[in-house]
Amino acid sequence: MNRFRSLSRRGFLLGAGAAAIGAPAYGQGHAMRRIAPNRASEAFDPDVDLELICKRDETPILTGRPTRVWRYAGHLIKGPANALTAMPDSYLGPLLRFSKGQKVRIRLRNELPEETITHWHGLHVPMLMDGHPTAAIDPGESYVYEFDIRNRAGMYFYHPHTHEKTATQVYRGLAGAIIVEDEEERALALPAGEFEIPLVIQDRSFDDDNQLAYGGDMPTRMFGFYGDRALVNGRCNLTLDVASRAYRLRILNGSNARIYKLCWDDRTPLTVIGVDGGLLEKAETRPYVMLAPAERVDLLVDFSGRPQGAKLTMLSGEFYGLLPPMAQRMMGSDLAMGEAFPLFAARVTETSRDSWKAPEKLSTIRRFREADVANLDNPIPIAITMAHMAMLLNGRPYGHDDIQPCERIPVDSTQLIEIFYERAGMGMGMGMMGGGGMMRGRMGGMGMGRGMGMMGMMSMAHPIHLHGQQFEIVERSFAGDEDAYATIRDGFIDSGLKDTVLVAPGERLRIVKPFGDFKGRFMYHCHNLEHEDAGMMREFSVE
Ligand code: C2O
Ligand code: CU
Ligand code: CU
Repeated sequence: MNRFRSLSRRGFLLGAGAAAIGAPAYGQGHAMRRIAPNRASEAFDPDVDLELICKRDETPILTGRPTRVWRYAGHLIKGPANALTAMPDSYLGPLLRFSKGQKVRIRLRNELPEETITHWHGLHVPMLMDGHPTAAIDPGESYVYEFDIRNRAGMYFYHPHTHEKTATQVYRGLAGAIIVEDEEERALALPAGEFEIPLVIQDRSFDDDNQLAYGGDMPTRMFGFYGDRALVNGRCNLTLDVASRAYRLRILNGSNARIYKLCWDDRTPLTVIGVDGGLLEKAETRPYVMLAPAERVDLLVDFSGRPQGAKLTMLSGEFYGLLPPMAQRMMGSDLAMGEAFPLFAARVTETSRDSWKAPEKLSTIRRFREADVANLDNPIPIAITMAHMAMLLNGRPYGHDDIQPCERIPVDSTQLIEIFYERAGMGMGMGMMGGGGMMRGRMGGMGMGRGMGMMGMMSMAHPIHLHGQQFEIVERSFAGDEDAYATIRDGFIDSGLKDTVLVAPGERLRIVKPFGDFKGRFMYHCHNLEHEDAGMMREFSVE
């Protein structure tokens, strides 16, 4: 397992050294302008009303000493009992379950020692309800969210979106899943109740005292955090006891930076029924599925015909080309990205005669037609660029009042967007190498391959996320290392609606996204959370 041993292990305790983390990589670091915390409104009559408290806690993860975490603790004030379900034995926030059309009020209370704000990833809500960094609240304060559930059925994700502190706050444990149901999905009678299992995958590192360890140094800020082990629902070596029948596994990658290649150990193909924005039109069968941070995948798994005691293990399989080997060595995780390791297992402990077959047609997705798109000949660029030790979008770091002309979008329009790697050539390379300092010293002994340009050495995959409504992927093309690409290319599910898409080095994507209903500032960013915090984030101004 340890092909990439740590060269210099620089992880430190998140508990004690807390003040040191979260230093911005791109030299902003000034406090962000704030809006006043939103209050509950008299006029809003919620179907679901709940409180979520961000607080410090302890939870057993490894054997022995419990681990100090930050987490969401919740309770339901009003609404159906299944609107909020605590995750047993886990630091994860409660599972929230809403129905399309419901009015939801969430009272977020900050009992952490620093500012925070929560974002409902994938939900289509007004800017004031979106967890914008300018809405951050101080310790002791509350922020009240009120919104209608406009999304179709699907799995969504809540997590902090605090200016330059998203990565560390999520890492300490602040994350949870949201499931939205609707009539179209209910009519299918998919496996439900105990046969529908949400699974949140996150990687973590621990010190000798079972406490969370985090890099936080230059390589972490450049490439993201990669932990030594994968946890599922906050647990190591999770094994699900299952009956020999069909299950629905709803998987969310809640990791800061790690990308997984989901596959069964016995090479049973995966049956994919949904992604970020809900059900596909038809199930797809794949040998494996790539799952980048914040992406979701909905799998149907049929254990029928498997004998009592049969065990099936979900792995992350081997792949190449999404993170440069140099980065792997600098980071010193015991688990290199792209090496094979187990995620969780399912063991058949009960025989069942329930049989269930996925219907031919799962859902109807309203596809965009060319006539719907406002800018067919002039796509909005999202260029992945690198400069001065940081990854950027369109060559610019995050700035709240830095809206560029191509980032102004008329409300209720549908836009074509092109995401690609900018061929920065040597400009970027010189910036990085010429500066000397820490990078030069560290790269000295790395043995850069002859003829391997800086661009190739540094290029890595980025999961690009856009707030607001889900988009359709209309084109994905690739020019680059075919051998590496062959280890990932069958794992992209581009047929459904997405809010986060993995863009591999050398890829160019065209997506079509609606900007309906709400004016205001909506972020788009890399969901490698260290990249996001380092400024690989921009805003659209919908006006
Ligand atoms: Cu899941 Cu802007 O993030
Ligand atoms: Cu989001
Ligand atoms: Cu990135």
